[in-house]
Amino acid sequence: MSVTRRGLVAGNWKMHGSRAANASLVAGVRAALPAGADCVLCPPAVYLADVAAALAGSSIGLGAQDVSPEAAQGAYTGEWSGAMLRDVGCSHVIVGHSERRARHGESDALVARKTAAALAAGLVPIVCVGETLEERDAGATAAVVGRQLEAVLAGCGVEAFRSAVLAYEPVWAIGTGRTATPEQAQEIHALLRGLIRARDAIIGGSVRVLYGGSVKASNARELFAMPDIDGGLIGGASLKADEFTAIVAAVPG
Ligand code: PGA
Repeated sequence: MSVTRRGLVAGNWKMHGSRAANASLVAGVRAALPAGADCVLCPPAVYLADVAAALAGSSIGLGAQDVSPEAAQGAYTGEWSGAMLRDVGCSHVIVGHSERRARHGESDALVARKTAAALAAGLVPIVCVGETLEERDAGATAAVVGRQLEAVLAGCGVEAFRSAVLAYEPVWAIGTGRTATPEQAQEIHALLRGLIRARDAIIGGSVRVLYGGSVKASNARELFAMPDIDGGLIGGASLKADEFTAIVAAVPG
């Protein structure tokens, strides 16, 4: 990663945990986290306030896994707004994760609206893009991730990426144990950064692009060493304090 960009590691707990398990996971991460590291934990929404309390006094950020596209309170059963996330202590929110795109039919346009809602509430959106195995095998990777990113650029403007973070997560590498090679990931990271740079050279150079998909302590260092990989979005390995903090420690200092 570039020396001018600070690395970020976000733990996406997905639908895992319990009050007891979360308390010991947060305590373990706090105890072993390298000083000065930039890292965020994203527990299930029902545990956000609990985890916020457990993180008090630490530099670890708190993120949600989703946000409503609606800014104002209203009749939106099962949703929560960016303002509510801020209210319980969140600094970040994941938007457009492939599991939400696939399981909840989230469109590129909806992901753009959620990104805008997060920014309006003062949250840092972690905007996820990534292709399926079928799309990769069909040679459509660049077209798919380009389309997903362009929807956010069209809906929110390139200015969004002054604070928003991008995450490249090839769907075939998520939870499969099959990691993209550093070269495969670097190729797509450079492409994504290039699309942003084409609109604004400064923002393109400063935006942080995370890699996600079976990142482990054993492969993090070689991924994070690539020039356009600025950290990771970590699923399974974020549920083990020692593994997660080892990944955070792999960010070049
Ligand atoms: P994984 O998940 O690290 O378990 O592959 C990453 C993600 O989906 O964010």
